[in-house]
Formats: sequence, structure tokens, C-alpha cells
Amino acid sequence: MTDITETSAPITSTDVTPAGWLDNEHPALRRGWHPVARVDELAGDGPLPVRLLGEDWCVARLDGRLAALRDTCPHRLAPLSLGAVVDGSLQCAYHGYRFDGAGRCVEIPALGRDGAIPSRANCGAAWGVTEHLGLIWIAPDEPLVDLPVVPEHDDPLFVHCPLPVVEWRASAAQMADNFLDLGHLAFLHLATFADPADVLVGDYDVERDGFGFSVRYRHRTKALADSHAESDPEERHRTVERESYWIFTAPHHVYLRLSYPDEEAVLTISFCHQPVDRGRTRVFVTDYRNDIADTPDDVEDAVSFQMAVAAEDRAILERLRRKAVPLDPTVEFHSRADRITLEMRRVLRELVDVAEPTTGKDPT
Ligand code: FES
Ligand SMILES: [Fe+2]
Repeated sequence: MTDITETSAPITSTDVTPAGWLDNEHPALRRGWHPVARVDELAGDGPLPVRLLGEDWCVARLDGRLAALRDTCPHRLAPLSLGAVVDGSLQCAYHGYRFDGAGRCVEIPALGRDGAIPSRANCGAAWGVTEHLGLIWIAPDEPLVDLPVVPEHDDPLFVHCPLPVVEWRASAAQMADNFLDLGHLAFLHLATFADPADVLVGDYDVERDGFGFSVRYRHRTKALADSHAESDPEERHRTVERESYWIFTAPHHVYLRLSYPDEEAVLTISFCHQPVDRGRTRVFVTDYRNDIADTPDDVEDAVSFQMAVAAEDRAILERLRRKAVPLDPTVEFHSRADRITLEMRRVLRELVDVAEPTTGKDPT
């Protein structure tokens, strides 16, 4: 069998995304919250350049508050992220124009202190920017969906295990689809946690809640403690019952709580996706665990386990030729095992239908 983790560079499609498919630059995604950086990526007050939905933004702390401005100065189009935060405003590096957190131009040095500043000198600002779950989130236009909730983030019983931020050659919707998928575990994850006998996908319910849904599902996997050991995929392991509880929050957040009753262990995984542009997504994954000590060794062990699982998924996802998900249910084949990922497509389809009349405009 081909070792897909060892094959050549990922395939990136240069095709135009067909109508009715959702890629990382679909205008409807402007009406959602998206993570763009870990909070500690913003050094001091910034600025920090970030890319989201194929657009460049400049994140900075202006007058003590987070701001996200379009990363193009309206004067001679220099990236504002080359500038500096000066006296609470963002100063362009080229001719020194200054902007406040709402994108208003508050000073044009060449015109002197008393010079009138026309509104044409303003730059665009995101509808919202905030800190949440240790990340900076941007909503380019007014969001249709609230920020995702991860109760374990503030629960002292859980140890935080943040993974290194990795960029995948896939769309955020494809990645969320994968992290929700029930049928691939016994094929793709044998070297990490899966039970080779766990092929049949049993019945489950999908509970819809606005632009999101939840699913509870019980099946067998390797014991959590055994999953960490390097293992031969053919080798049989002690298996235990595991309850998986997913919450999907549009546009792309996946919350997954894995409860192992035999081990009294809970591993919650938060998958936060940054749709960078049409072919690229950065993913911020954090594991929250109640079964390990908050020591560098235990956290490193947990992180390297989760990285190994993610590498198994990434090897397939980056080989999908189109970097988009079809929202028309007749394009792909779906079995009853796929009701969870079919529901994701329905949610995203509704988001697109609701968002479309107001998106696609240039915010500047
Ligand atoms: S390009 Fe920014 S001030 Fe001129
Ligand atoms: Fe997977």
C-alpha cells in the first residue's frame, strides 16, 4: 500500500471554484468570526499582518483596543502593517498618515495640524475584532453566528495543550468536514488511536441549533493512554468505549469532547480554522485534557500525539484536488453514516443563502 504521508508535494488546484461550492474566498464567509493569530503573535501593540478570505488585514492595539484595518493605505496603497503604532494610532511607514481603530484618518502630516482631512483618506476596518480562546478573531462584516464556546478553556481541571499552528493546503470547510467525519477513523488512524474493528458506523442523531449542530456517538477506540505509544497498525490493542460529542459552529469551528469512561479521562479538542486564501488554511488546534499533569513533558507528549493524528488527516486532505466543498448534496455520494457531514453542508448552504444579499461589497 502506498504510504500517502511520504508522497510528493500537495496538489493545489488552479481551477476556478464551480458555482455552488464553498471555498475559502466565498463572500458569505465575511459574515462569520475567523481566528487570524494566537494572541501572543501580536508583539506589543503590533502591527501584525494577517491574511483572511484572500484579503490582507493589519491587526494592532490602538488606544488600548484591538483594531483590524485593511492592510492597504488609501494614499499610495502601502501595507499599513509596515507602519508603527504611535501615540495610540497607526502611522503609515510611507508618508506618515495616521489612522484610528475605526480606520479614520486622523492626521496627514504634509497638510499640517490644521489641514482638513477628507473621508476619502479613511481606510476600511473590520466589523469586529476580539480576543477569544487565546486567539485573535476577525469578523469582516456583521457576523450571523456568535463566537464558538469551549467551556474547558476556562476550567481549571483541564490542562491546555496548544499545537503548533500549521498551514494546510485545503479549505477550512474541508478540514471541518474531516474533523467531524465518523467513517474514516478505522482506515486513516490505525497507527494512532483507531480500533481496526470499528468500521461500522452505528446510528446517531444530529441535533440542529441555528447555524450549528451537535452529535453524540459511542464507539470503541484504543485506550487513550495506549494511543500515545508508537504502534504497529496491525497490532491489536486494548480497546475501550469512547463517547464523542461534537459541536459544529459555522462557519468552521469544530468542538470535539472525547470521554473515556474506563479511564475517567476527557480529551476536548478545539479546531479553529483561519481560511487564509483559496488554497490555504491555518489551523489552531488546542487539546484540553483532565488526565495529564500540567508539566512540559506531559503537554509535549499530548501535543505530539495530536500532531501525529493530524498528519494522518492532512495527508489525505491536501491531496483533494479542489480546495472547496460542494453545497449541492447531489454532487457527492452520502451514505447514512455521513449525516453529520451532510448537516455541515446544509448549515453552510443556509449561511450562504442568508449572507449573500449583503456580502461581496468592498468595505472600504
Ligand atoms: S502610502 Fe501611506 S501615507 Fe502615503
Ligand atoms: Fe481524522
